[in-house]
Amino acid sequence: MTDLLTPVLTANWGDERAWKLVNYERVGGYSALRKALVMEPADVVGVVKDSGLRGRGGAGFPTGMKWSFIPQDNPKPKYLVVNADESEPGTCKDMPLMMASPHTLVEGVIIAAYAIRAAYAFIYVRGEVLHVVRRLQQAVREAYSAGYAGRNILGTGYDLEIVVHAGAGAYICGEETALLDSLEGRRGQPRLRPPFPAVAGLYASPTVINNVESIASVPAIINGGADWFASMGTEKSKGMTIYSLSGHVNSPGQFEAPLGITLRQLLDVAGGIRDGHQLKFWTPGGSSTPLLTAEHLDIPLDYEGVASVKSMLGTKALQCFDETTSVVRTVLRWTEFYKHESCGKCTPCREGTWWLVQILKRMEAGHGEEGDIEKLLDLCDNILGRSFCALGDGATSPITSAIKFFREEFEAAMHTPAWELFPYERSTIFVREPAAATTSAGAH
Ligand SMILES: Cc1cc2nc3c(=O)[nH]c(=O)nc-3n(C[C@H](O)[C@H](O)[C@H](O)COP(=O)(O)O)c2cc1C
Ligand code: SF4
Repeated sequence: MTDLLTPVLTANWGDERAWKLVNYERVGGYSALRKALVMEPADVVGVVKDSGLRGRGGAGFPTGMKWSFIPQDNPKPKYLVVNADESEPGTCKDMPLMMASPHTLVEGVIIAAYAIRAAYAFIYVRGEVLHVVRRLQQAVREAYSAGYAGRNILGTGYDLEIVVHAGAGAYICGEETALLDSLEGRRGQPRLRPPFPAVAGLYASPTVINNVESIASVPAIINGGADWFASMGTEKSKGMTIYSLSGHVNSPGQFEAPLGITLRQLLDVAGGIRDGHQLKFWTPGGSSTPLLTAEHLDIPLDYEGVASVKSMLGTKALQCFDETTSVVRTVLRWTEFYKHESCGKCTPCREGTWWLVQILKRMEAGHGEEGDIEKLLDLCDNILGRSFCALGDGATSPITSAIKFFREEFEAAMHTPAWELFPYERSTIFVREPAAATTSAGAH
């Protein structure tokens, strides 16, 4: 499309039935596995370490280093768990990847499991997306039939069982320790750390948990080499990654580019903000990352660049909102999500998100009370850093950043409803059906 983009993980997404094994093999699929299986497991870890790959699940922890934490002198079984729960508002890269090219993930799973000497790998996928679950299950079946999984893989003597596990659709089950509890059949709630999963994870055994995109990047790294991968991106954020553009964008979708590209460059490729409008605010990595404004269009979208403006790269979910959007209303919608998804284990998050919604609701209706802005900030202050897991911290990000950049809108919420300042029909990107076209008398 343009030389700004570097399609690697997404290169075959447009191919005819790219999800079938035969078509994946036609573009070199499973050649990295053959290469990895003749290497020592520790050397595979070394290549991933040298590549500089950092976890694509949000926190950016170095993947090779995480694998090297698995104590190989521990006699317990080792497990690989893939986090395919993807539920953060705005985040939509793992599901399309598994839908378009599930074998990229499956091949990465087998290589990663081999590297940490695991005999079992679990893919924990969000159960609500049944079509993705089915596609993944079919890909795993195909891998077994071709001798890439199961007993004595490709005659090397290496055995690996791959289990696709469908979760029940709770955002908290994407938090890695809640995911482990859920996988073990318990209610999904975060665990106290230490011990860390590398020491006592699934069934109290050493466990690596990685995001879908992190694991799917591994075959390309084995094939292309650590230097090739590290030649893309910036000094501390190496490689290419998938950016997801959504919202008021002319051509939303997934765009794979080197880390460090800017939103301005990505918008150029995506046809810009919808015609006749301007960017007002955006999230760099989903709703848990502090929002930014048009003045940040040129910051490099890598871990350091986004941190330098006091936000986070997160999942690279770039949700863009134009000047027709109410910040108060948007922040309320996100906060309602966090309130609903709070697992209830700790008081600051369970009670705090409930109170945040009460205040934001009256503000959206133009009934804000004197002192409400300070109350919101005070509540956020009592949640941030005092909650048991990062869900609570994430819930405060949109609120504090929105007040920082758009305080006057929160002040206007003391007297004017958001729907008067920002009528819904102006910001919607869906065309309303004319009233006459509806069938029910009461429909509107
Ligand atoms: C509330 C919450 C939800 C999360 N959801 C996901 C998710 O859906 N997918 C994911 O990969 N990581 C998610 N994470 C991050 C994981 O805890 C973990 O850091 C990640 O899976 C590690 O993989 P990586 O090192 O490959 O990035 C979530 C974290 C929190 C606090
Ligand atoms: S911060 Fe929220 S989601 Fe996390 S443990 Fe506490 S109540 Fe549960």
